[in-house]
Amino acid sequence: MVKALKATGIFATAIGIFVAVAAWHPAAAQDNPMIEKGRQVFLTAGDVGCAACHGIYAEGDVGIGPYNRGVGEIAIRGALDSVDEMSFLKGELSDAEIGQIAAYYEWLGQLQLVKVLVKRGRFIPSEIQVHPGTKVQFVVNNSGRATQTFGSDKMDIGAFKVQGRTDRDLIWIAPDAEGEFELRCTDCRLKNQVFVIKVTRAAPPFPPTREAKAPEVQLVSIPAEQRDVELIASGRDVFLNAAGVGCVACHGPYAEGDVGIGPYNRGFDEDRIRRALETVDAMAFLGDALSDDEIKQVAAYYRRLGELHLAKTRVIRGRFIPDRIRIEPGTKVQLVVNNASQADRTFASPDMGIEDFHVPGREAVDLVWVAPRTEGVFNLSCTDCAEPDRQLTIEVSQADQ
Ligand code: HEC
Ligand code: HEC
Repeated sequence: MVKALKATGIFATAIGIFVAVAAWHPAAAQDNPMIEKGRQVFLTAGDVGCAACHGIYAEGDVGIGPYNRGVGEIAIRGALDSVDEMSFLKGELSDAEIGQIAAYYEWLGQLQLVKVLVKRGRFIPSEIQVHPGTKVQFVVNNSGRATQTFGSDKMDIGAFKVQGRTDRDLIWIAPDAEGEFELRCTDCRLKNQVFVIKVTRAAPPFPPTREAKAPEVQLVSIPAEQRDVELIASGRDVFLNAAGVGCVACHGPYAEGDVGIGPYNRGFDEDRIRRALETVDAMAFLGDALSDDEIKQVAAYYRRLGELHLAKTRVIRGRFIPDRIRIEPGTKVQLVVNNASQADRTFASPDMGIEDFHVPGREAVDLVWVAPRTEGVFNLSCTDCAEPDRQLTIEVSQADQ
């Protein structure tokens, strides 16, 4: 019953979105039919589209599903299998359609999303910075009722109109040289307003040059495990650096498969690793690069990761997504806090005995926490977000029988 009510709520949201979508024309010259099909499936799957929960630009701004741009096919399939909110989509999508969405996501992942709101002739924000050479997807949101016309002399984009209360996007590739560009509204009542795009090397490159990073798995102090400390630390090193790229490059920073190349690997044993090294084509180049000892070490690290329940939350505008995680009493949790904003954020949980920790903008930090053996509710909050009352709730309870 509760589920049905919840679904109705979602469908209602989706109808709201559809009104906007109907008036939305992708400026992107998508000559790749696979990507274009993926876009359509993204907007319509299960009648509501992924857009209903992940945002029209897959940017996570609806506040239900997270930022999805650039997410790979394995993660999409994983989400379809495991995310409760998405279970109704499972039978709705063909294998080919999932592949199409993945192609669309990959394409979106290459584009830096820049949104600008136009309100009473003013651009909000009025200036942004992008790195030279960046492919930008601009979204111009006209918050007024009247249709407005926009244009730019230097950006080589023709005049375009945006109807009242709708969005319109266009793709623009920043030049390789630094420079300053302006977008204007040519028929707004307020005349002298401009949106300034500064192309500067001071802006972070996009897509972000991600350094391979693996979690600092802290060892929970259980004496029997102490002797493994060194082995696990060496294994982490192999995981990060093997043959110059590390397992991390394909299996994800938490060996959780989120990069979308190699699958989930946590807890996989030495035999399975050896078999993969012998049989997986993509891993053939690792065969000679790893010594017998190193394989044992990475196996120890995988064993360690397998003992930790991975729980991830992403913080977008002070909102935790998901904002509730249930775990069994006594579980060892590897909690990953991913900060989706540009600015650094501080988190803490006196309940959980976790002191202030900082997560740099667009990065993630993980920590290990051991849930008590008794049931209880714990909260983690962002202490310097604009919305301090929002929290991540960790419910330690037995599964309902
Ligand atoms: C009814 C809401 C809803 C719809 C519709 C929906 N999702 Fe989701 N999705 C979610 C939520 C909520 C999560 C986060 C779950 C979590 O982290 O526990 C999620 C997570 C995901 C993730 C995992 C993201 C990550 O970084 O791990 C992917 C990938 C994803 N969704 C893809 C899709 C695709 C593709 C569609 C359309 C075919 C879709 N979703 C439709 C709600 C939705
Ligand atoms: C260049 C990408 C790449 C790198 C680097 C890589 N893998 Fe893989 N790995 C894959 C792919 C792709 C598969 C899945 C193959 C398949 O299912 O057909 C895989 C599969 C595996 C499997 C088998 C999973 C199963 O279901 O049995 C294990 C174990 C594994 N990898 C471990 C490792 C370890 C350990 C490293 C580092 C020493 C590593 N991989 C580095 C791409 C990679």
